[in-house]
Amino acid sequence: MCGIVGYIGFREAYPILIKGLHRLEYRGYDSAGVAIINDENKLSVYKAKGRVKDLEDYARDKNVTGTIGIAHTRWATHGEPSNANAHPHYSQSESLALIHNGIIENYAVLKTQLINKGYSFHSSTDTEVLVQLIEYIKQLNKCDLFAAVQIALNQVVGAYAIAVIEKGNPDQIIAARKSSPLVIGIGEGEFFLGSDASPIVEYTKKVVYLDDEEIAIIKRDEDPKIFTISNIERTHEVKELEMNLSQLERGGYPHFMLKEIFEQPETLKNCMSGRINVEGTNVTLSGIIDHKDKFVNAKRIIIIACGTSWHAGLIGEYLFEEFCRIPVEVEYASEFRYRNPVICPDDIVIAISQSGETADSLAAIEMARKAGAFVYGVCNVVGSSIPRNTDSGSYTHCGHEIGVASTKAFTAQVTVLTMMALAIAKEKNTIDEDNYHSIIGELQNIPSKIERILKLSNEIKKLSLIFTYAQNFIYLGRGYNYPIALEGALKLKEISYIHAEGYPAAEMKHGPIALIDNEMPVVAIATNSAIYEKVVSNIQEIKARKGRIIAIINEGDETMKALADHYVEIPATDECLDPLLTSIPLQLLAYHIAVNKNRDVDMPRNLAKSVTVE
Ligand code: M6R
Repeated sequence: MCGIVGYIGFREAYPILIKGLHRLEYRGYDSAGVAIINDENKLSVYKAKGRVKDLEDYARDKNVTGTIGIAHTRWATHGEPSNANAHPHYSQSESLALIHNGIIENYAVLKTQLINKGYSFHSSTDTEVLVQLIEYIKQLNKCDLFAAVQIALNQVVGAYAIAVIEKGNPDQIIAARKSSPLVIGIGEGEFFLGSDASPIVEYTKKVVYLDDEEIAIIKRDEDPKIFTISNIERTHEVKELEMNLSQLERGGYPHFMLKEIFEQPETLKNCMSGRINVEGTNVTLSGIIDHKDKFVNAKRIIIIACGTSWHAGLIGEYLFEEFCRIPVEVEYASEFRYRNPVICPDDIVIAISQSGETADSLAAIEMARKAGAFVYGVCNVVGSSIPRNTDSGSYTHCGHEIGVASTKAFTAQVTVLTMMALAIAKEKNTIDEDNYHSIIGELQNIPSKIERILKLSNEIKKLSLIFTYAQNFIYLGRGYNYPIALEGALKLKEISYIHAEGYPAAEMKHGPIALIDNEMPVVAIATNSAIYEKVVSNIQEIKARKGRIIAIINEGDETMKALADHYVEIPATDECLDPLLTSIPLQLLAYHIAVNKNRDVDMPRNLAKSVTVE
C-alpha cells in the first residue's frame, strides 16, 4: 500500500528519499513522487506513474538539491494510477506539498466547499482536497502551517498518515497520523520519516511511533514536538528498532519470496527461542503467563484476521479446540467489524497480523475492546499498531517480510498459535503430560524437517513446468491441512494469477467435483492423520473423474504414490504440526509457477503488502 518517506537534516535529501522509496516498493504501488525545497527555497514536486525507476528517469535532469523533502509511493484508491494522481500534491498556490496514506472519507463534501471558494483541482484524489483545505485554513486564519494542519485534521473523517512541507520554510516537516502508521527516525541533527521503518533503518535505529490523532513538528536540530489534534502536548519514548539492513536485501536470492521461504528453518527457531526451555520440555509465553486467569477462564476464543493470517487463525481453531477445549470462532476482520457480533467480557479475541497495520483488523480490535473483551495480538512487526492497541500478545519474530505473498510470517504465526495452545492447555490441565512433551519435542524438529523439504525445491520446480499453463487449480486438504489447502490456493492466485480454490476434500462431492476433468490439476494434501484413509478415498473420487493429482505425501507412502499422477514426499510429523511442513512445498510450487510465468513475484499486480485502508 502507499508508502511515505521524509528527510530533514544536513545531507542531500533526494538520494535518501529515492533509496527510501525503493525500500518501500515491497508494499505495492503504482506511482511515485518527491517534493523538495531547494537552497533557493523553491518547492518542487516531481512525480511519475510506474516504478520508482521511472521517477528517477524523469527527475534526472531536474534540480533535486536540498536538505528537506518528502516522497511517496501511491497505491491507487481514489483515481487511476497516473502522474496527476501521484503524490505529493501541491496546494493551489503551490506553496504546500503533501503526501498521504489512507482515505479521507468526507473528501467529496470538502472538495465541493473548496470549489465554491474558487479552488481548482488537478487530480481525482482525496489527498489533493486535504492539501487545499490546509492552505485555505492557513490563509483564512492567517496561522502557521502546524495550526492549519491541526484545524484541517479536525474537519476530516477517515484515515491518514501525512507529511507536509512549505515553500519558504525549509526547516520543518509537519507530520500526522490516524489509523495509518508513521514513524520518525531520530538521527544526529537529522530526522527521517517513514510509513514503516524500512526507509529509516539504514540511518538510525532510534525511532518514535506516532499515535492516532497526533501531529509532529519536525525541525532540524530540535527534538520533534508532538501534539494531539486537540492541541495536547505529548511525549514519546524513543524506541530501538529490531530490524536490520540485511533483512531488506535479497542476499543472493532472485526474489525476496524465495529468500523468505528458505529462511523458515531459522525464523521458526527464532520464534521458539526463549519460549521453549533449554531442556526442550516446556513452553512459556509471557503474554499468556501474565494473563493466565483470563485464558484459563475464557469461555470462547474469537480469532480475527485477514488473508493468510486468517488461514493461520483456522489452524489456531483446530489447536485451541483440541488441546484447550475452548470453543473458537475464526472471523474475517472485515466482516466482523461491520456486523453486530456478540462479544462477552470473558471472551478472548486473538488478532493475527503480520504487518500489525491491517485497517480491518485494527477496527475489529477496537470494537472488541469496547465490548470489554481481552484482546491478544499475534504480530510480526514490532511496535506496529496492533501490538500497541491490544492488551497483550506475542510477536512472531520472523524478521521483516518483504514478499507480498506471506510465507515465513505464516509459519511463524502457526508456531506461535501452537505454543499458545500448548501453554494454555498445560495451565488448564486439558492436555495429557506425555502428549504435551511429545509435541514440544517434535516442534523443535520442525526446522530441520523444513530444511529437508527445501532441498526438494528443484524437484518442485520441474513439477511446476508441467502445470505452468493450467487455467485453474484445486487444492484439497482435511483437518489441520484444510487451512493449508486454502493457503496453497491463495499463494498460487496471488503471484501467478492462476485461478485456484481450496476445499475441504470431503466437500468436493457436494458441488465442486463437477469441475473435475482431465485438465484440472488437483493438489491434494494426503499426509498421515487420523483421517488419512478418508482423504485417500476423496482423492480416489477425483482420480475416477480423471483429475490430475499432485499429492503432498509422507515419505514412503506407496498407496498414494500409486494413486497420484505426481507427488512430493515430505517428512512425517505430529498431525497438529503438519501445516508447518505441508505449507512449504505449496509455497515453492506457487513460487516456481509464478517465475515460469514471468510474474512480478515480490510485487504482484494490484496487491499491497500492508493493507492500511479498508
Ligand atoms: O499484515 P496482515 O497479516 O494483517 O495482512 C493480512 C493479509 O492482507 C495478508 O495475509 C495477505 O493476504 C497476503 N498477501 C497473503 O500472502
